Amino acid sequence: MAKESKQQQNLFSEKGSSKNVQQKEKILVTAALPYANGPIHLGHLVEYVQADMFVRFLKLSGKDVVFVCADDTHGTPVEIAAAKEKIPPEQLIAKYYDDHKEDFASFFIDFDVYHSTNSPENKFYSDFFFEKLTEKKLIYQRLVELTYCESCKRYLPDRYVKGKCPKCNAEDQYGDQCEKCNATYQPVDLVEPHCSICGAAPVRKQSLHYFFRLGSFSQQLQQWLESNSSVQQDVKNFVAEWIKNGLQDWDISRDGPYFGFRIPGELNKYYYVWLDAPIGYIAATEKYSKENLNQTATAAYWHSENAKIIHFIGKDIIYFHFLFWPAMLMGVGLNLPADLAVHGHLTINGEKMSKSRGNFLTAKDYLAVADHRPEFLRFYYASHLVKAISDINLDFEDFKTIINSDLVSNIANFVHRTLVFINNNFDSRLGDLGDDEKFFLQQLQPKYKAVIEHYSEYNFKEAVRGLLEISSIGNRYFQDNQPWQLVKTDKKKCHRVVTAAANIVKDLALLSLPVLPKYSEKVLRLLGTDDIEKLSFDSLGRRLAGSKIGRSGIVFAPIEETISLAKVFPAVLRVGIIDEITEHPDADKLYVLKVDIGTGKPKVIQLVAGLRPYYKKDELLGKKIIVASNLKHAKLRGFESQGMLLAADDGKRVTVVSPQDSAPGDLVFPEGSDPEKIAGNRKQLAIDEFYRLNLRVRDEKVMYGAKPLKTSTEIIPVDAADDAVVR
Ligand code: MSP
Ligand code: ZN
Repeated sequence: MAKESKQQQNLFSEKGSSKNVQQKEKILVTAALPYANGPIHLGHLVEYVQADMFVRFLKLSGKDVVFVCADDTHGTPVEIAAAKEKIPPEQLIAKYYDDHKEDFASFFIDFDVYHSTNSPENKFYSDFFFEKLTEKKLIYQRLVELTYCESCKRYLPDRYVKGKCPKCNAEDQYGDQCEKCNATYQPVDLVEPHCSICGAAPVRKQSLHYFFRLGSFSQQLQQWLESNSSVQQDVKNFVAEWIKNGLQDWDISRDGPYFGFRIPGELNKYYYVWLDAPIGYIAATEKYSKENLNQTATAAYWHSENAKIIHFIGKDIIYFHFLFWPAMLMGVGLNLPADLAVHGHLTINGEKMSKSRGNFLTAKDYLAVADHRPEFLRFYYASHLVKAISDINLDFEDFKTIINSDLVSNIANFVHRTLVFINNNFDSRLGDLGDDEKFFLQQLQPKYKAVIEHYSEYNFKEAVRGLLEISSIGNRYFQDNQPWQLVKTDKKKCHRVVTAAANIVKDLALLSLPVLPKYSEKVLRLLGTDDIEKLSFDSLGRRLAGSKIGRSGIVFAPIEETISLAKVFPAVLRVGIIDEITEHPDADKLYVLKVDIGTGKPKVIQLVAGLRPYYKKDELLGKKIIVASNLKHAKLRGFESQGMLLAADDGKRVTVVSPQDSAPGDLVFPEGSDPEKIAGNRKQLAIDEFYRLNLRVRDEKVMYGAKPLKTSTEIIPVDAADDAVVR
């Protein structure tokens, strides 16, 4: 650790030590660090897809760029979520770390490093900021009055105390802002407050907190903002207004219990999560440097004149990134961001995404409903994204149109018809280009340039338009030349024409790489590129002739139906067979079952079921049942239950649902839905999400809405009265 600290401190050695050496500019791109207390959802992906496209664009332009991100692990929500699950916060964040990384990978979001704010690097730099700012008298202590719950033995932050709004008297408002009248206030101002954890009435209690002198940075911040010509005007206006209205000093400490870094010299005070979260950008850079460059390279990004930092953020965190964070950087003397690209919020079919509206889609939900097509979403987002804080609407009608008419019928169609024609008529070999073809290709150069220009301005919408224009030109060229006729009358000319078309395909794929990384890679490989890593826009217009190409297959099929949120059946139900049965040693209603579900790891799972009042052991042994296999595991009186079996309950009798003509492992799904989509769902369901499916008996069938549950061989029978609940 001592050794490490020394190396890390190199970050703050004299600035400009490498000043005289003419070096390539170093670009650092960050995306905001997602909280480690929930899954990645489609709103998050607006940002991560956008940042990833921009980074891919920079890399193809030959820039020296590193893309960093991390999980934001600290704070009250993580601490309380872990307490609820009765696990240490470290375990909760470890789970989300893996989950987030998996989601990013499945959308081809390619961070150079994905780190965590709960890391030694982040601890080091958080302490560094704290000490340096304290030294410079930019941090001071002051008594604050807080709400404290004596039964929970904790201070209650904004979201954990509710009461009546002190302005308009509206009931059930949070401690920071009234949702009725929009007034903002302190938790202690609430009328008739209560603890939202236990319900008790909190008391007022004083605590000595640490404050950062944000107020003393007003001028510097204003100057920085005014002199920055990259930052978007819509954001500048907001921030200028805030500065004008006066900046309050910032409380950067919290009392325990709190999941975070303890403040040096304190027993029960921690850095507020928003202090160490942006420092996580530096920690992630350090992690990357250690693993890929050398341990002092962090300084090349954060403390060198030859560097450029670009943050991607959403409009909800402007305050933190345009005021607190730059002020902290000014305070310790590090590089300020050169640019911040701020996007708006995602709406779905015109509505804010929320669990209660039932339109909350996680990354995994999307993949399950959209036929496992991450690139459709990337393309859709790209088609709508500009550098502005206006909201982005994911409308499923529009989605279908854009995918089918732009991506499938225009781009993918041009690529496929060209390559397949060469496969079939010229034995997969490209020909030469004549003067006509060269002239024609030459004319496309300005179009290519325009696409690159749009990318450089974060104008993905126009970049996509440019791509569509190029592929339209390609399609028209193909159509006008009628190669299917020409091949009979002038085969040589025909070969030149389709070779020219293949050259456009190559350049189009190269230009599409930021948006459609996997698809474009596939196309480029067919055209003989093997080192995708080394690709650059330099090879745009470089001619391809005479070489052999691969066999083209259809990659994107059109979307047949508009995606409907109601169509998602989130439970993975499988036929299983009861292999073993024992009585629960200390619960007289419970059996512990070993069930063979025919597939998966493990293939035999343990269930705990309350069937003892209704079934004798030997009535169940060897019986075929249906198991919900993707439920969150639960512990029942000390025994783990790794799923749940379906039984119908009419209030008097409980009847186990038992398939007749199906085998263990068979998937059970609502009639009319796509079993493959359901089986591909890897999302874990909470028990109440499962109950919300509201499975019921009708005509001796198990119904999901109007659809009976079935396997590929039978409609599942059940011997129970109509309207019995199945769970
Ligand atoms: N942990 C903080 C960021 C710390 S950065 C030092 C945070 N996390 S978040 O998980 O809530 O959001 C991460 C990013 O996703 C933010 O930039 C946020 O704006 C963005 N989005 C989260 N929900 C969103 C939508 N519904 N729509 C678009 N983007 C949104 O904030
Ligand atoms: Zn309480």
